[in-house]
Amino acid sequence: MIAFAIRKGVSLRAIAPCRMSMLQAVHGVRRGYVTPSRPSPADHLATVSGVERDGPLSNDQLLERVFDKKEVTRSANRPIYMDAQSTTPVDPRVLDAMMPYYVEQYGNPHSRTHAYGWETESATSEARNHVAELIGADSKEIIFTSGATESNNMILKGVANFYRAKKNHIITTQTEHKCVLDSCRSLQEQGFEVTYLPVQSNGQIDLDTLRKELRPTTSIVSIMTVNNETGVIQPIKEIGDILKTEGHELCKQLGKGVPKPFFHTDAAQAVGKIPIDVNEAGIDLMSLSAHKIYGPMGIGAAFVRRRPRVRLEPLMSGGGQERGLRSGTLATPLVVGFGEAARIAKKEMAFDHAHVLALSKRLRENILSRVEMVLLNGDPDGYPGCTNLTFQYIEGESLLMALKDICLSSGSACTSASLEPSYVLRALGLDDANAHSSLRFGIGRFTTEQEIDFVCDKIVAVVQRLRDLSPLWEMVQEGIDLNSIQWSG
Ligand SMILES: Cc1ncc(COP(=O)(O)O)c(C=O)c1O
Repeated sequence: MIAFAIRKGVSLRAIAPCRMSMLQAVHGVRRGYVTPSRPSPADHLATVSGVERDGPLSNDQLLERVFDKKEVTRSANRPIYMDAQSTTPVDPRVLDAMMPYYVEQYGNPHSRTHAYGWETESATSEARNHVAELIGADSKEIIFTSGATESNNMILKGVANFYRAKKNHIITTQTEHKCVLDSCRSLQEQGFEVTYLPVQSNGQIDLDTLRKELRPTTSIVSIMTVNNETGVIQPIKEIGDILKTEGHELCKQLGKGVPKPFFHTDAAQAVGKIPIDVNEAGIDLMSLSAHKIYGPMGIGAAFVRRRPRVRLEPLMSGGGQERGLRSGTLATPLVVGFGEAARIAKKEMAFDHAHVLALSKRLRENILSRVEMVLLNGDPDGYPGCTNLTFQYIEGESLLMALKDICLSSGSACTSASLEPSYVLRALGLDDANAHSSLRFGIGRFTTEQEIDFVCDKIVAVVQRLRDLSPLWEMVQEGIDLNSIQWSG
């Protein structure tokens, strides 16, 4: 245990109180999963060479620590993690930065009267700078929240309510995250009008449709940067331009001083992965989340533009922290972790992207060359770390059940105990059967070539086995058009 803690760089004083749960976490679960061979740090870097990681640890030291963790995971026979859109592991460098703020520098960052408060205030301010720099914002424009769900709620409801006297119309898309769609639904129930833009078969919106739907009364347009199910990237800069020019002209009809439709983007899956500059793209509001970029869970941010100023009604009342927009004590360790994750993401973005791209190509080429009737969903030039494939004539859930040693997400969502086909894939034009037969492969900073190869071999074998058992597949092989069949019952 002690050796484990030292290897992790965790202070023993910090670890002592949680000894039992650490032991349980390491040795507790033993399930019958496959144990793939252990990659070496050198193997991990095979795709991107000649780049040094940031921080006091060398490449090898950093990756040794990550692989030590993977080794512990594997010795407990846990599955391979390929669900990077759902969440990402905390980078060991991020954890290192956070630890002192749990056990030594624990002051309330809003305490103005003593050194404990000053030091945590200074740490949160440095973290705010890192987050701001990642998106080209001013640090005063960063409002810390509990995550992207809260930021999306706060922004959509806050802006809609603030400007409701003159404007009651909101535009979003059919493929947004649930928390955006549900925020819009609740606004609709309060009398707001919401337009849900359709997407094209590649998952992107049509800019002319956006132009047509704009009204003088549109207060906010909310369009995500990278989709969490397909990796599709929306034309963010073009949208920003349309709102600045045509949107601005329309709003003049309502009188002087009426602002243009504000542009909000849910960038939870984009920030830290692809370059985004809020000023270049004309973004007024943005939602961010730390746990998608190797930071801790429970912390995120909203970017709220100051010039020209965007106003919103706060969701939370209280001490008036965060420019009065989000009352409540800042969670210093989480904020520091977010800041460090943002700093690393900015510095290593090109490195991470090249790594993820190489692995994504490897996965796509391997599977598409060995399995027939597989469709790649969404724009092929989307974010490569999110690959969504349809394995036709197989139930995605059966596929997932047969792939117990790999953590993936399927094209179905569990809604009130029934499996609904993904609304995102349906919006791209997939029928229910194809949506149900889809899997999302989430590749991240610490995914290895060996893991990709293991996953591909497993997929090829399982798809083959399930299709061999499928009467539908047999009919397709015999050349029968399944659409021509009249099913009874
Ligand atoms: C696009 C998108 N928006 C919002 C969220 C919610 O983020 P958080 O977990 O930080 O609330 C997610 C997380 O899955 C997401 O992928």
